[in-house]
Amino acid sequence: MQQILITGGAGYIGSHTAVALVNAGFEPIIIDNFSNSNKKVLDGLEKILNQSIKCYEGDCNDRELMRQIFSENNLSGVIHFAASKAVGESTQIPLKYYSNNINSLIILLETMKEFKVKDIVFSSSCTVYGQPDELPVKESTPRKDAESPYGNTKKICEDILIDHVKSGAKARVVALRYFNPIGAHPSSLIGELPLGVPANLIPFVTQTGAGIREKITVFGDDYDTLDGTCVRDYIHVMDLADAHVKSIQFLADKQDSFFDLFNVGTGNGNTVMEVIKAFEKVSGAPLNYEIGPRRSGDIEKVWANTDKVSKVLGWIPQYNLEDALKDAWNWQVSLEK
Ligand SMILES: NC(=O)c1ccc[n+]([C@@H]2O[C@H](COP(=O)([O-])OP(=O)(O)OC[C@H]3O[C@@H](n4cnc5c(N)ncnc54)[C@H](O)[C@@H]3O)[C@@H](O)[C@H]2O)c1
Repeated sequence: MQQILITGGAGYIGSHTAVALVNAGFEPIIIDNFSNSNKKVLDGLEKILNQSIKCYEGDCNDRELMRQIFSENNLSGVIHFAASKAVGESTQIPLKYYSNNINSLIILLETMKEFKVKDIVFSSSCTVYGQPDELPVKESTPRKDAESPYGNTKKICEDILIDHVKSGAKARVVALRYFNPIGAHPSSLIGELPLGVPANLIPFVTQTGAGIREKITVFGDDYDTLDGTCVRDYIHVMDLADAHVKSIQFLADKQDSFFDLFNVGTGNGNTVMEVIKAFEKVSGAPLNYEIGPRRSGDIEKVWANTDKVSKVLGWIPQYNLEDALKDAWNWQVSLEK
């Protein structure tokens, strides 16, 4: 059975990808420092999979630990999720973001080279596009200056991977530019676990629905969109997880020194108000919201052109917005129990 190291595998997207990897016949091995996740995730994984997942508790910036993991296992690839991801915090503590997100990638690539592990899938983001000049946005659409230090780390990491491959390194790389991952595993045993006040829309919506937050503020209703609120491309986290499995499988027959990147979104944009209305439908209760002023740094609208990912990786999303909101809501309800 092929072993795949998932850095940040106890996190939101990593844990769902562990499930998808097992279901596709791989053995995931996790490294996580639990800086933004909870060890209970491992119990959820065990219940879903009827097996425990090997997990190293530690930091990807710890070179000796990384060497130990590579020497103790027979890894055939890596999916690199581990990163600090709070956009707002990154503007206040940029060095934390540059240090964690960039150093961990460099140490990982050096360790992969030392142990002759070629395949890596990297978590990038649609944030690299900024407000694109064309919609839906294609992989070939030029990247814009990053809106935050966090976004800049994603651009820099993409560039590091491209330069590494260009140098002739025996590496095979896929970078996935995620749009907006939402939802949870349909079992409600794992899901998004934001620490403190959620920075993303959906956990804020579900926590408001559950009465943990009094109300949700919609930042601006005077944008040039269907109802004036911002548009994003919301992708179910299980569909996103599947894109990682397909990427690992895709890399298997590639030549050395290979790089490609793919958008992972549904290809549809939804406004914040559409999300609120869809949530009210699946939860069966009205949501307490108010319209506030625009929030600085917000992009007006972005959604993915998914032609490349569907044609080259054969990846097609299976879930729609309502499915994802239903799973997110069930997960929130299960947390309250
Ligand atoms: N969730 C999103 O909206 C989104 C969108 C685009 C891209 N991404 C990227 O996808 C990846 C995964 O995101 P997520 O939403 O699952 O985040 P997450 O915070 O839930 O998961 C990241 C995990 O990495 C761990 N981690 C962080 N730094 C580490 C380190 N140095 N060593 C070991 N573990 C470390 C955290 O404890 C956490 O469990 C990140 O790279 C993120 O930037 C996320």
